Amino acid sequence: MRRTEWLVDPAIAYLNHGGYGALPREVADAAARIRAEVEANPTDVLALQWQGRIDGVRERVAAFLRGDPADLVFVPNATAGTATVIAALRLAAGDEVVTTDHGYPAVASQLGVESARRGVRLVETHVPVDVGSTEAIVGAVLANITDRTRLLVADQIASPTGFVFPVQELVAAARTAGVPVLVDAAHAPGQVDVDLTAIDADFWVGNLHKWVCSPRAAAVMRVAPRWHDLIRPLVASHGYADGFQPAFDWTGTHDPIPILAVPDALDFWDGLGWDQARREQHRLATDGAEHIAEVLGTRVAIRDEHTAAMRLVELPRALSMDDGIALAARLTTEHKVTAHITDHGGASYVRICGQLYNVPEHYERLGSALAAVLP
Ligand SMILES: Cc1ncc(COP(=O)(O)O)c(C=O)c1O
Repeated sequence: MRRTEWLVDPAIAYLNHGGYGALPREVADAAARIRAEVEANPTDVLALQWQGRIDGVRERVAAFLRGDPADLVFVPNATAGTATVIAALRLAAGDEVVTTDHGYPAVASQLGVESARRGVRLVETHVPVDVGSTEAIVGAVLANITDRTRLLVADQIASPTGFVFPVQELVAAARTAGVPVLVDAAHAPGQVDVDLTAIDADFWVGNLHKWVCSPRAAAVMRVAPRWHDLIRPLVASHGYADGFQPAFDWTGTHDPIPILAVPDALDFWDGLGWDQARREQHRLATDGAEHIAEVLGTRVAIRDEHTAAMRLVELPRALSMDDGIALAARLTTEHKVTAHITDHGGASYVRICGQLYNVPEHYERLGSALAAVLP
């Protein structure tokens, strides 16, 4: 389906859409038109038109994510957004931050900085990949919240596992305990139907270059109104003193195309139909995962209801991080199949994605390649 409508190399079985996104040809063409427009008169677009243009994209993104445009700002990527929030909270020695063991390593690095510099205590909640219920997840996280907890960091869709967390329930439970929540939603926009108003997290950061398929790098951050006075970009530029949105609307010269092309990316998916596309992504990933697990004689981890367009298949044995990286490299160079090797709770997995440019043969190729390469 639609393979020629994407820029991914048809010779590669590309099963890592979640890693960095990938571009539909239609969106790439729209971005090229916007780039030509910018280059025709950079000052006109980046100075005279900028506020109107960015406000227009913000309105469109707010409608898509069912949020209030007044709460949204754009950041280059999820790493920058989550780091901005963590730094702004000015955590102090003895403060605690609760996370889960499905967190993204770069976000953990940022929390590690707070721990090393300021003596913040990090408390990681183990959530087994095969956890049975929303109550079990919320209960495990809540059990780690104390009167010293200053922040809960929860993924909406985890990177190492593809696990779809019940973020609305987590936010509600944390609020009852008086703890603000930062939702790392890097994978959520596009992959699942996001309702920012219903989630009502204190802070929520989602990439627009992964599953919305705008060019890299584009991300949106939602900050609840009660935090508007506190949250500011890490780098001050024009507008910094003028309030929450002006501080983020221009943070210095950057490539404006990824944000300006977001409406075209949304048009692309609106044309296909989001529900139908999501069903197809889930079906591709799930059928593919079942096939690979059968070839390897292992299992598909994570219950269906906690997944979307990414699935996890256990590898026959645990690999060191270096061996996992070497395996992924061999898959690409020797077998022309690209997938993410990951680990969780002492086991290693291959994480596969379903995107509309994928076909069943891609998953068959990965299964055969893994069977050939793994001892
Ligand atoms: C859960 C999660 N958080 C944060 C990030 C970081 O995103 P970026 O590299 O765009 O900053 C990723 C990237 O894959 C991710 O999966």
